[in-house]
Amino acid sequence: MPIKRRSFLRAGSITAAIAATGLKTNQVSAAPKGELNLYSSRHYDTDELLYQNFSELTGIKINRLKGDADELISRIQNEGRNSPADLLLTVDAARLWRAEQAGIFAPVTSEVLEENIPDNLRHPEGLWFSLTKRARVIMYNNRQIDPSQLSTYEDLASPKWRDRVVVRSSNNVYNQSLVASLIANLGEEATEKWCRGIVNNMARPPQGGDMDQIKAVASGLADVTLANTYYLARFAPDRSASNPAIFNRIGVFFPNQDGRGAHVNVSGAGIVKTAPNRANAIRFLEYLVSPPAQAIFAQGNSEYPVVSNVPLDPVIARFGDFTEDRVNVAQLGENNPLAVKIMDRAGWR
Ligand SMILES: [Fe+2]
Repeated sequence: MPIKRRSFLRAGSITAAIAATGLKTNQVSAAPKGELNLYSSRHYDTDELLYQNFSELTGIKINRLKGDADELISRIQNEGRNSPADLLLTVDAARLWRAEQAGIFAPVTSEVLEENIPDNLRHPEGLWFSLTKRARVIMYNNRQIDPSQLSTYEDLASPKWRDRVVVRSSNNVYNQSLVASLIANLGEEATEKWCRGIVNNMARPPQGGDMDQIKAVASGLADVTLANTYYLARFAPDRSASNPAIFNRIGVFFPNQDGRGAHVNVSGAGIVKTAPNRANAIRFLEYLVSPPAQAIFAQGNSEYPVVSNVPLDPVIARFGDFTEDRVNVAQLGENNPLAVKIMDRAGWR
């Protein structure tokens, strides 16, 4: 998703940063009991409702610093042992991995988290936990393509799709994580071959975000693309980018259903090793995997909950059930540097 750079992150000092958020400096730096300092790169209004509900339930006040994930990670590193940060909440496994590599997380042991979040969606040592899932799938022009022509991610690299694919650039972390999943499943060589095939099949040089790819397919500029399902949901009637002409022209195809399943990425959070309010942060994470919180959290951006038996956003539910690739999302991060190299070697701009 586009994540807006917040001006306060360029403000230099933490005092200025906090002042810009409207928080009182002493509330964050003094870290009194009953508070939680959340650094978040998510920017959905519904997240606010969760913070309110949690505060009402527990009496713990949430002070929030919003910003770009990489800036928040650097900020926590620069703040060092004086960092007020308790919890870093961000999207994409590769960013969680970067935070882990930056050494800012401390492991957490929690039965609630371990019982509710499937193994493949949490760090093996408890350094971070996924809280929502997003599926990156094939979307097609349903006037030009019959879904029987579709099968796997691998197939999109075959010559039959020459000049028929649009896809965003290789500097997009969602594509990097998809390629990282291919490395985990197919190995380096086959993944590079796949990337070359995709580049050969591009109907235009990569440009724009997921919504732009969907628009290009709806307009007939290409037949297929790879996109996260929540972006299509934004075009549904009464949604933020409501556009029935686009929404109705697009089919959703979950690839690799006879094999490993469709690629999923996550949003997630880890507890900062210097957290002044560690117990509150754990309590908040545990709250976020409760069914009511999962419903709000996932539906806020039309994502999938990580906990089973939680209602889906109705638009997403209409796309149908699917089998997901259960490769541990930690591997998506580990494979990220190689994924970037492979895409570059393959000429994926
Ligand atoms: Fe996104």
